Amino acid sequence: MDLSIVVNGMTFPNPFVLGSGPPGTNARVIAKSYDTGWGGAVAKTVSLESAKVVNVVPRYGKLRSKTSGEVIGFENIELISDRPIDIWLEEFRQIKKDYPKHILIASIMEEYEKSRWQELTRMVQDTGVDAFELNFSCPHGMTERRMGSEMGEHPDLCEEVTSWVTEVSNIPVWAKMTPNITNIKEPSLAAVRGGAVGISAINTILSVIGVDLDTLRPMPTVEGHTVPGGYSSQAVRPIALRMVSQLALGLPQDVSISGIGGIENSHDALEFMLLGSSTVQLCTGVMLHGVKMIDELNEGLEKFMVDKGFNTVQEIVGKSLGYFSTHMDLVQKMKAAKRAKAGEASRDNEWAQKDITEKTAELTSN
Ligand SMILES: Cc1cc2nc3c(=O)[nH]c(=O)nc-3n(C[C@H](O)[C@H](O)[C@H](O)COP(=O)(O)O)c2cc1C
Repeated sequence: MDLSIVVNGMTFPNPFVLGSGPPGTNARVIAKSYDTGWGGAVAKTVSLESAKVVNVVPRYGKLRSKTSGEVIGFENIELISDRPIDIWLEEFRQIKKDYPKHILIASIMEEYEKSRWQELTRMVQDTGVDAFELNFSCPHGMTERRMGSEMGEHPDLCEEVTSWVTEVSNIPVWAKMTPNITNIKEPSLAAVRGGAVGISAINTILSVIGVDLDTLRPMPTVEGHTVPGGYSSQAVRPIALRMVSQLALGLPQDVSISGIGGIENSHDALEFMLLGSSTVQLCTGVMLHGVKMIDELNEGLEKFMVDKGFNTVQEIVGKSLGYFSTHMDLVQKMKAAKRAKAGEASRDNEWAQKDITEKTAELTSN
C-alpha cells in the first residue's frame, strides 16, 4: 500500500520522521533508520560553533508508572549537537547521496545575529538537505545564550529570524515551536509571516522530573545540582495534541504541521494526523524502544486505512478537526439530546443512587 505523502513539495515515503535529538545524532544512525523503513529524519540541531556546546552527565531522568514501571515521562537537559559543523556538512552530503529518496531535514539554531543565521543556512543548504527546521524551542541551556525557546517565546523574534533564513534559502523552512507559552499560535503565525511553510510542534515542556528523598537533590543531579529541563514521552501527548489542533485550526491552510510529543505507536501517530499533522516525529519513543518501531507504525497505519476506507495518507490529515466546538455549543447539543430522552431521573437522584466511582466512570469517555 502507498503510505507516501507530499508535504511542501517533498515526497515522504511514509509520514514517520525521526525527531531531532539522539535518534538523529550522526549519519550512521540516520542511515540505519532509513534502512529500517523510516520516511525521513530531522537531524540533531546544529550550530556554527560546536565548541560552545558542552553536555553534562547524567542528563536524562524518567518518570515511571507506579504500577507497571513503564516509562511515561522523560526529562532531558541535553543541549544541541556538540559535533563540529564541518563534519555535519560532510555527513548531510553523504546521506543525500546515499538516500536521495528519503527526506533529510536539517535542524538549525544560532545566536540572535542575522549574519550567523544566514551563514549557517547557506552552508547547510549547499549540502542538498531537503528542508530546514528552525529550532526556536529548546527550553534549557541554550536559552542562556538567548537561543532556542528564548526566540520561540517572542513572536517578533520568530518572524525576524525566520525571514533572515527564508531570505537566503530556496528549500522549505519549518519552525519548531516551544509549548512553554500561553498561545502557541502567536509565535507560529509570526514564523509563517517570516516565510515558514511548516510548523513542527511540540518541543519539550519545562520540568523537574523529581527529587531524591535520600539526598534531597532534585534530578537529574550533576555534582549535587540540577536545572529544569525538557519533558517528553507519553505524558506530554495530550498537551501536544491540544497544541497541534489549535495550530491546525488557526494557521493558514497551506501551512503544514509536523506533530510531535509522546508518540510511541501507530495509534498515537494517527491521533496527531487526524488533528492536522501531515507528518509526525518521534524522539523519546525511539530512544526507549529502538528504530524497529517503524514496522508497527507502517503496519498500523496501513491497517487503519484499510479498515476505515482511506485511499491516501493525505485524506487522514485533519479529519477529526471538525469535531471541536465551544462549551456553549456542547451544552446546547447535550440539552437537545436530553430532551429527546423521555422519563429521565433527576441529576440529584442519580448521584445519590450511585457510588462516586461508578458516576466518574459514567462521565468519562474512554
Ligand atoms: C534527549 C533529547 C534531546 C533532544 N534534542 C533536541 C534537539 O537537539 N533539537 C530539537 O529540536 N529537539 C530536541 N529534542 C526534542 C524532541 O525532538 C521532541 O520535540 C520532544 O522530545 C517531544 O517528542 P517525544 O515525546 O517524541 O520525544 C530532544 C529531546 C530529547 C528527549
